[in-house]
Amino acid sequence: MRVVILGSGRGSNAEAILQAQQTGRLGRAQVVKIFSDKPDAGILALGPRFGVPAEFIDPAPFKTKLEGAGEERFIAAVRACAPDLVVLAGFMRVIKPGFLGAFAGKIINLHPSLLPAFPGLDGIGQAFRAGVKETGCTVHYVTIEVDAGKIIEQARVPLAPGETLESLTARVHAAEHALLPAVIARLSEGAK
Ligand code: GAR
Repeated sequence: MRVVILGSGRGSNAEAILQAQQTGRLGRAQVVKIFSDKPDAGILALGPRFGVPAEFIDPAPFKTKLEGAGEERFIAAVRACAPDLVVLAGFMRVIKPGFLGAFAGKIINLHPSLLPAFPGLDGIGQAFRAGVKETGCTVHYVTIEVDAGKIIEQARVPLAPGETLESLTARVHAAEHALLPAVIARLSEGAK
């Protein structure tokens, strides 16, 4: 299963995926390329470390969505990789029908809350401020409605006594680092 990762940030989840691959925990999946919409994103530095090509693609003209010329550049670049799965690992842009249609049913996203609770930006902070007893993370298929596609799997993170936003953030991230590679491995073995 050929996997392409898209991310905008530090890339800790992409790193977890690549580490799983290195240690034989990614099933039949193989990461073939990493793309970012940010030229200086940490995720791009993983490429040389793990021997996977990594490339910035200019997302212009929009700031928060992938549409127009930038979307066309992303479609062409991702299509050239012939992916079976496109993983959004901290890709902070709204996906529009053009990109969705080009990779229909093959795009999954990681979100730092127990969806449908706390979609959108800052899922961890939203949950913390709401005073929930537990939060977590979700891997789901991407559809046109943001953070609302079919849920593949979730990991729960109960809040600990004296939890701070910082400690909760670290624990949700740790849950993400376990969940996302495990889901990719299972999808590569034929799970839906
Ligand atoms: C992750 O926590 C992921 O759930 C979140 O961005 C972070 C990326 O971290 N994604 C979203 O909020 C999407 N709406 P990373 O760059 O270290 O993998």
